[in-house]
Amino acid sequence: MCGFFGIVYEQDKANLGSILVRAGKRLSYRGYDASGVVGIGSDCSFDLRKDKGRIEEVEERLHLSEVKGSRGIIQLRWATYGIPSKENAQPHYDCTKRVFSAHNGNILNTPELREKLINDNHTLQGENDGEVIPHLIEDGLAEGKSFTDAIMGCVRSLNGDYAFVATSLDEDGMWAVKKGSSLFLGIGKGSVCVSSDLTAILDNTREIVTLRDNELIHFTNSGFTIEDIETGEIVNRETRRIALSVEEIEKGSFEHFMLKEIYETPAKARSHLRLLKNNPSYEEAAKLISQAQRIFITGAGTSYHASLLGKYYCAEIAGVLLNNSFASEFSSLCSNILKQGDILIVVSQSGETKDVKNVLNEFRDKGGDKVIGMVNNIGSTIALHSDIVLPINSQLEVSVPATKTFTNQALSFLYLANKVAELKGRVSQEFDISFIEGMIQDSIEKGEKEVSRLLDKLTGQKEFYILGFGLTYPAALEASLKIKEVAYMHIEGMYSGEFKHGPLSIVEQGYPVIFITTAEDKHFVLSHINEVKTRNGFIITIAPLDEELSLASDIFIPLPVSNPYLVPISATIYAQILSYRMSVSLGINPDFPRNISKTITVD
Ligand code: M6R
Repeated sequence: MCGFFGIVYEQDKANLGSILVRAGKRLSYRGYDASGVVGIGSDCSFDLRKDKGRIEEVEERLHLSEVKGSRGIIQLRWATYGIPSKENAQPHYDCTKRVFSAHNGNILNTPELREKLINDNHTLQGENDGEVIPHLIEDGLAEGKSFTDAIMGCVRSLNGDYAFVATSLDEDGMWAVKKGSSLFLGIGKGSVCVSSDLTAILDNTREIVTLRDNELIHFTNSGFTIEDIETGEIVNRETRRIALSVEEIEKGSFEHFMLKEIYETPAKARSHLRLLKNNPSYEEAAKLISQAQRIFITGAGTSYHASLLGKYYCAEIAGVLLNNSFASEFSSLCSNILKQGDILIVVSQSGETKDVKNVLNEFRDKGGDKVIGMVNNIGSTIALHSDIVLPINSQLEVSVPATKTFTNQALSFLYLANKVAELKGRVSQEFDISFIEGMIQDSIEKGEKEVSRLLDKLTGQKEFYILGFGLTYPAALEASLKIKEVAYMHIEGMYSGEFKHGPLSIVEQGYPVIFITTAEDKHFVLSHINEVKTRNGFIITIAPLDEELSLASDIFIPLPVSNPYLVPISATIYAQILSYRMSVSLGINPDFPRNISKTITVD
């Protein structure tokens, strides 16, 4: 969790603070419990300003953008070790106030390291795990080590998954370490920078170096070296140019990133659908899936729901069973049954979710065979450690709630299931690109109008249910997750066939229950609707146009599609718009829901 950015120039810059704050705002979705900057001048002076609060609040109080210097670091914190406070805010310094660092991720052996440091007479200001880093470097320097060796020593002491940047008043440039968390290096004209996220780098340069785990980078304003931490060897790595436009990292005329990203869905789906056709990675994955004895599939949150939809697609279209589990439950469920020849599909937008990385590591340790990683961030840890990478091509998703990435994950699975079906000699479903594009566009346009009919009824409710059946079950789960996440309401998504086995007793006069269904499943669902209706529940049905369903409902919301495989995608887009509108009408900023962050890099 958390995010940092560090940059080195040749000479002092009066606007260093503004550059840091601009980068920090790009990272703000990674942490908003505390914010801080340090600027270091060429005369070896430093200016450290930090406090609890989101970047805008701390900027207003401490004027972070006034910091000057030739080098600087900014860090945005999401609290894990230690409460949100000035002392636990980063960057941190050592006892001599000459070494500065900022990190993201988790240092698991913090309690032991802190105890040792305190026994060795170090003065620690707070309880944050990142604070041990400058003090461990200080110890190495006190033993006469070079700064690089002191960092190597520090890394050997740390357990966990993290990345950090460090610098000293007595040295040139900065050092950064990648160990289990994301880290990018940007090579600008006259400056070099690092960040835990690509977005923070793109204002300075489009020339990027992808880094791997266990690498130590030393960079100055004019160059960089990468060293393998385990072997000590120097690594040669090419830069690559990133093609993202500035608009893609800005909100533009939209009030929130969430809405902008929902509205980007048709364009991102269109380019993805074109890239899917004859993509060698998808071909290879389909071949592997069609031949495998046993396949596991996992993900977290929205990505898990996409993986569940993938399970339904593969079962119905290709006749292949995917064994699904939440990433966080994978170990309890599967660790004793993994064997050679098993294959694993991991789904993650960020490619950095810790629960998902844990699965990948365990699968490798237990001798599982190939890993297929479906990711949006192709420079991520999960992408780097997968045998086959399936990009979803959604480009940057800034808002914490996942929206456009769900649609492209779903389309990827639909395409993959069809490919597997073909390889297995089954009749595949028609994958008509222009029809799908039209359906997505219609879902956005019609969705706005249709969900506005639900806002008054649902926004004041404390709770309600959203039920799905078969293909629409993942959509019901995703709809309820989205409303919980951005409208802070207790909404439960469940399988509609299960509702009568207990939850039905909650229904009384006017209690809302939303059903999402395909026309193909309507005979089961009509029966479930009647079970609620006869208890005076308030029925809302989201489905392709259908008279019978419409008559059975208090409010009927028609979807602009009848193909059963596309219904869950269309219904999920409606639910995204609904949750967004509910969130805004409740005065919540859906881009930054409280207590959570875009990428969950902790257990
Ligand atoms: O980056 P990932 O896809 O691995 O993230 C997994 C979940 O944390 C994520 O989908 C989360 O559920 C979303 N914020 C929900 O909108």
